[in-house]
Amino acid sequence: MFFKRESNVSKTIGVLVSGGDCSGLNAAVRAITHHATKTFNWRVVGIQRGYWGMWVRPLQTIELTPEVCDHQWVSSGGTFLRANKNYHAPTFADCGKTFSSLDEAFCDAYHTLGLNAIIIIGGDGSFKKLNQIHDFYNKTKKKGDHQEINFIAIPKTIDNDVAYTDLAIGHETALDVVVEAIDNIQATAESHDRVMVVEVMGRDAGHIALKAGVAAGVDAILIPEISYNINDLAQHIEKVYQSVQKHAIVVVAESVKTPDGDSLKSAIGDDEQMRYRGIGFNLASRLKEKVSAEVRSVSLGHVQRGGRPHIKDRLLANRFGVHAVDLIAKKQFGRVIVVVNGKMADIHISEVADVLQTVDVNGEMVHIAQSLGIYIGNV
Ligand code: F6P
Repeated sequence: MFFKRESNVSKTIGVLVSGGDCSGLNAAVRAITHHATKTFNWRVVGIQRGYWGMWVRPLQTIELTPEVCDHQWVSSGGTFLRANKNYHAPTFADCGKTFSSLDEAFCDAYHTLGLNAIIIIGGDGSFKKLNQIHDFYNKTKKKGDHQEINFIAIPKTIDNDVAYTDLAIGHETALDVVVEAIDNIQATAESHDRVMVVEVMGRDAGHIALKAGVAAGVDAILIPEISYNINDLAQHIEKVYQSVQKHAIVVVAESVKTPDGDSLKSAIGDDEQMRYRGIGFNLASRLKEKVSAEVRSVSLGHVQRGGRPHIKDRLLANRFGVHAVDLIAKKQFGRVIVVVNGKMADIHISEVADVLQTVDVNGEMVHIAQSLGIYIGNV
């Protein structure tokens, strides 16, 4: 497939959503499309299924116009461009051409599509890959080669672990989903006088557990950034249980280690990548031996990635999308858009790739949890 640049458009830009889905992605793609086409008269090509759409041949693309990206794009979760966590990397034979690497296949796709720039909406893993593609291009480009690979990155992840940004798209909606779920769990815990252990996502960061736990008024929060002691936790829960409250809720982030110090990971996908799972059940079984109440566990799982985008995610997605297009117009490339103290800013990708934003154990949210008498571990 070969795309000829249309004569009446001054630029063609690509948009790609990489990694796992979350809420607010469609709103971001829509904002990019509307701003690029209406303000600048550019053409927008959507790449389907993340990097995979740039690796395979024929290329997996869709023409994005304001008509395609209608109002439903602001209110729906998931990604209409489809997701791929890079697990299904094609073999080079599938590409129809012989490439020395997937990075080369990406660069070839960029030029074949006639792109002047590409916007990648992704998390830390996707940014790392992008940095690697850029390095590959710089190392291998020949004199008189096609023009530079120009990119802008937008952070998205329910985990909120992208460095140097207060927020990534999807985090606020995930918090909303978790808080609503815990509200529901509170009702059943209260009715049955039970202790409920709720396992939430977040990978190696405890942002979801900490913020949602405080917002939902739970009794204990365990996050990977803070160690805990099972006897102290049990003592705290027993005290809460014996109080007038007669039930208790513990929120645990998926990457928290067992009381014996083990990380619970297993490979369940066909990609054989290890994923966190099972700490909620493990902790519930251990607590059951130490408290007088009945204990149950529930893992919220992928429900946290869905949901109608929260207004904060919709606004963030629109702000990120418009800022990304503005940076392309100003020819400022290689930037990751961030929000700091409520204001849009951007930093070079090399500063963000490979840096994980975890919970600040001396930060305000930990202090709030402690001040409310929530057990949060050994701080
Ligand atoms: O990074 C987002 C996330 O939902 C994590 O919180 C979780 O650990 C992981 O992705 C789950 O991955 P998968 O969708 O591949 O099961």
